[in-house]
Amino acid sequence: MKIRTADCTDHSGIKAVLEVAFGQGDESRIVERLRADDADSLELVADHHGDIAGMMMFSPASAHLADGTILRGLGLGPVAVKPDHQNKGIGSALIEAGLEHFLPYPVAFFCVLGAPDYYARFGFSPAIERGWRWAADNSTLAEMAQAFQIRLPRPLPAGDGVIHYHPAFGL
Ligand SMILES: CC(C)(COP(=O)(O)OP(=O)(O)OC[C@H]1O[C@@H](n2cnc3c(N)ncnc32)[C@H](O)[C@@H]1OP(=O)(O)O)[C@@H](O)C(=O)NCCC(=O)NCCS
Repeated sequence: MKIRTADCTDHSGIKAVLEVAFGQGDESRIVERLRADDADSLELVADHHGDIAGMMMFSPASAHLADGTILRGLGLGPVAVKPDHQNKGIGSALIEAGLEHFLPYPVAFFCVLGAPDYYARFGFSPAIERGWRWAADNSTLAEMAQAFQIRLPRPLPAGDGVIHYHPAFGL
């Protein structure tokens, strides 16, 4: 299994991974919109002898802090692995390679919406714990607040913040 940067010849394989992993086409359409907007900051695939077994994308996100500061970060997602390849470490390898890729860059934060049990292993924790929230979260569900997570590569001053994904997410 090789983790590598995606190119345009991978697009149909990536679409297939997204559709089978999520059981719908929404995530595939988001990925296509991000590419069309040049907002695919990093797109990695897990290449299994020429077959695309998994994919992961990062796109630009911004955090608007209470003092007026705007921080530039990256949204993680979608990430998907074909069901017959799941639980073999592929999702972890994609996410770790993506985070490592950005180590030299001044990324203020990474954000993700997903299962806290999964993303905690990559250093994510609920954004709500530092007073940050996802702009599109109108829910009062505690589960939703826990699911929106951030990872800070470097310490940041305390302060509330609202995070926006790229508009391609339609949020
Ligand atoms: C989430 C996903 C990408 C993980 O990929 P993967 O290659 O199976 O993950 P890994 O092999 O690296 O890790 C497997 C571990 O993650 C855990 N895990 C997987 N999905 C999880 C979830 N939704 N919640 C909590 N834990 C989860 C597994 O139980 C396993 O735990 P273990 O290491 O303690 O045994 C894959 O399950 C998938 O494509 N799911 C459908 C799409 C999706 O929900 N994507 C994430 C939201 S964008």
